Amino acid sequence: MTAIHLDAVRKSFGTFDVIKGVDLEIDPGEFMVFVGPSGCGKSTLLRLISGLEDITSGTLAFDDKIVNSLTPSQRGIAMVFQSYALYPHMTVFDNMAFGLKLAKGDAGEIKRRVHKAAEMLQIGAYLDRLPKQLSGGQRQRVAIGRAIVRDPKVFLFDEPLSNLDAALRVQTRLEIAKLHASMHETTMIYVTHDQVEAMTLADRICVLRDGIVEQVGTPLELYENPQSIFVAGFIGSPKMNFLTDKYAQTYGAHTLGVRPEHLQISQKDGTWDGKLILAENLGSDTYLYIDIGAKDPLVVRQDGTARQQPGERLFISPINNNIHRFDQSGRPAAHS
Ligand SMILES: Nc1ncnc2c1ncn2[C@@H]1O[C@H](COP(=O)(O)OP(=O)(O)OP(=O)(O)O)[C@@H](O)[C@H]1O
Ligand SMILES: [Mg+2]
Repeated sequence: MTAIHLDAVRKSFGTFDVIKGVDLEIDPGEFMVFVGPSGCGKSTLLRLISGLEDITSGTLAFDDKIVNSLTPSQRGIAMVFQSYALYPHMTVFDNMAFGLKLAKGDAGEIKRRVHKAAEMLQIGAYLDRLPKQLSGGQRQRVAIGRAIVRDPKVFLFDEPLSNLDAALRVQTRLEIAKLHASMHETTMIYVTHDQVEAMTLADRICVLRDGIVEQVGTPLELYENPQSIFVAGFIGSPKMNFLTDKYAQTYGAHTLGVRPEHLQISQKDGTWDGKLILAENLGSDTYLYIDIGAKDPLVVRQDGTARQQPGERLFISPINNNIHRFDQSGRPAAHS
């Protein structure tokens, strides 16, 4: 089991600073997810940990050992990318065995490891096929299998599901969750844009913003106690509603944050009132967009049976235990 320590890690490409001083402790066997807006440095940070990219300054240690100058293979890491890049002329078995054969492993041992990984990922029936005879999800599982057989100490994923369609994403996400459960000795870091992946897979989530760590915590800690407007707006989908001016001042805040699921609707009375602009019915949920005169319409989550019509006047009240108050700097305001 490997703990990963980042201490004041920085990365610049020429004069362009991408990672601006990251301190982070990843526990042995932990599943850590990196999220953040496009371009904030998620892939770069992952590549620094992998050894594919050099660290400009700071230290990276695996357990007690500083690994700054070790190659990826010396670090014992394996990485799975968005594009799975299998060898098209090789069978699934040979694709998975390739790295081990290069390392001149014992043939019987290679076979055992490939079969074990294939079983774990439910691709055992496809070992004789070529990649073009597989679906996208199956190919991505082969790429994951190719990494597993090397028995890495640290497993890194960079948006491995983003090329898959919605149904395959769900299925492959479950495979990755099972994989984490069965490889509990392996520390995993996973980069994603996807809220559901982050919330469901992570032991802890690290929210990055413009090359720095904004907040690290369990999915529920980030959801319930975001330490900034940025994290509050980033975690949760649809995103948290933010209100300022008189709407926030009543609550002693510069900005008031309320999630769509923490607003109640009434036809008779409530804290705010407004006109329904749009009702999005997704079957399981309905999202109501209500203009209460604030800068943006309020988004309210109702269950799928909600049948309000655009134009209707509605009253909306936040559930008091679930409001978030922020001060002018975007940090949690002291309760008044
Ligand atoms: N080799 C490079 N040379 C110069 N700039 C780079 C290099 N690699 C990345 N960058 C820049 O560093 C910044 C962070 O890139 P990175 O790929 O880490 O972002 P990301 O958070 O993974 O984004 P995305 O979510 O879009 O994948 C970007 O502005 C990018 O243009
Ligand atoms: Mg990236």
